[in-house]
Amino acid sequence: MLVTHVDLKDFRNYKGLTLELSSGPTLIVGSNGQGKTNLVEALGFLSTLGSHRVSTDHAMVRQGTDAAIVRVRLEHNERKFLAEVQINRSGANRAQINRSVIRTRELPRYFSSVLFAPEDLALVRGEPSGRRRFIDDLLVLRSPRFSGVIADYERVVKQRNMLLKSARASGIRDANLSTLDVWDERLIEFGAEIISARSALVANLSPEVAKAYERIVGADHGASLANSLSIISRQDDAESAVATNDVGEIISVADATTAFTAALESVRKVERDRAITLVGPHRDDLIFGLNGLPARGYASHGESWSFALSLKLASAELLRRDSAAGDPVLILDDVFAELDKSRRERLADSIANFEQVLITAAVLGDVPERLVANVIHIQAGEVVTNE
Ligand SMILES: Nc1ncnc2c1ncn2[C@@H]1O[C@H](COP(=O)(O)OP(=O)(O)OP(=O)(O)O)[C@@H](O)[C@H]1O
Ligand SMILES: [Mg+2]
Repeated sequence: MLVTHVDLKDFRNYKGLTLELSSGPTLIVGSNGQGKTNLVEALGFLSTLGSHRVSTDHAMVRQGTDAAIVRVRLEHNERKFLAEVQINRSGANRAQINRSVIRTRELPRYFSSVLFAPEDLALVRGEPSGRRRFIDDLLVLRSPRFSGVIADYERVVKQRNMLLKSARASGIRDANLSTLDVWDERLIEFGAEIISARSALVANLSPEVAKAYERIVGADHGASLANSLSIISRQDDAESAVATNDVGEIISVADATTAFTAALESVRKVERDRAITLVGPHRDDLIFGLNGLPARGYASHGESWSFALSLKLASAELLRRDSAAGDPVLILDDVFAELDKSRRERLADSIANFEQVLITAAVLGDVPERLVANVIHIQAGEVVTNE
C-alpha cells in the first residue's frame, strides 16, 4: 500500500500542507519542534483513529481553529482511494472515502499503517491499557469487523457497570438479576470473541517478535508474548507465566465462553459490592518475556526499546503477510537517533523491502545512507524543499 499524496488542514502546526510521496523510504527531516511527528501522527490517525501521543483528539486541531482535516490519496492493487477524516474540536469526527461519507470507524479498512515512535516504550513499561490498545489496533487492521465487536463490548461493559451502580445505589442486591443476566450474555458473547481472536493473534505475533528482536539486536534473547486473562484466575504471576509460557495458546470461542461464564459467576458477589465489571478482555494484559523474565520491570532501557520496536516490526510483518492490500505503510518516528551504528544498519536491513517507509529524523546523518533517497525538509509546519 502506498500513500501518494497528503493534504493537511489545521492539523497541529500545519495550516495547510500538500505533499507528494513516493514508494520506498522517504526521510522527513527538520529541527526539533517543526512538525515531523505531527505529519506522521496525522497518517497514523487515519489507520487507527487514534494518536500515539494523546488520548483526546482535540489536541490535534490547530490552535484557534475548530476542525482539522487529514486527506490522503492511497494506492493498492492498482486501486486508488481518497481517504479523509475531519477531526472536530467538539462533536464527532467525520470520515469520507472517495468523497462519500462513511462511518468513521470504517476508515482502518482502507488504510493500514504501522507507526513506531519513542512513546511506544510505554508498551513495555507502561500500564496494561496501552498493551490492550496495541493488540486491538492490530486485530482491527487484520480483521476490520473487530472494530464493531470491540465497540459493542465496550458499550456493554459501560451499561453493565451503570446497572451495577444503580442496583447498589438503590440497595437492590438480588432482585434485578434478570436484567443483569441479559447484559452478562452480551458481555460473554462479545468478550469471548475478543479473547479468542486476541489469543490467536498473540500466538501468531510471538514468533515474529522473536525474529524481529533478533534481527535488530543481533542476538536471540527469547523475546515472547503471552496472554494474561482475567477470566482465568491465575495464581502464578508474570514471572512464572514467562518461565512456563503456558498462556500463549490459542483459546477457542467456545472455551472462552465457558471460562468467561464461570469467571463471572465467581465474581458476582464482589461485582455487586464494587459495582464494576471485574473480568473480561477490558481487564486482560499481555506479558512480554525477554531472557526468560517479564520485560516489564526487568528489561534494560535499550532492551525495552528494542522490544517495543520489534512489536511494531512484527505487526508490520503479519499485516503484510495476510493482507490483500499489500504492505502496511511503515512509519518510524525518531528511531535512528536512539540506536547505535550496528543497530541502525540492522534496522535498515529489516525495513528495506517494505513498499513504503516514512522516517523522521532531526539529524539527517543519523539515518543510514541507503535510506536517504527522498528527503522532505519541514520547517514550522511547511515543506521547505522536496527533493
Ligand atoms: N494543536 C496545535 N496547534 C498548533 N500547534 C501545535 C499543536 N499541537 C502541537 N503544535 C506544535 O507543533 C510543534 C511540535 O511539532 P512536532 O512534535 O511534529 O515536532 P518534531 O518536528 O517532531 O520535533 P522533534 O524533533 O523535537 O520530535 C510544537 O511547536 C507544538 O507547539
Ligand atoms: Mg518528533
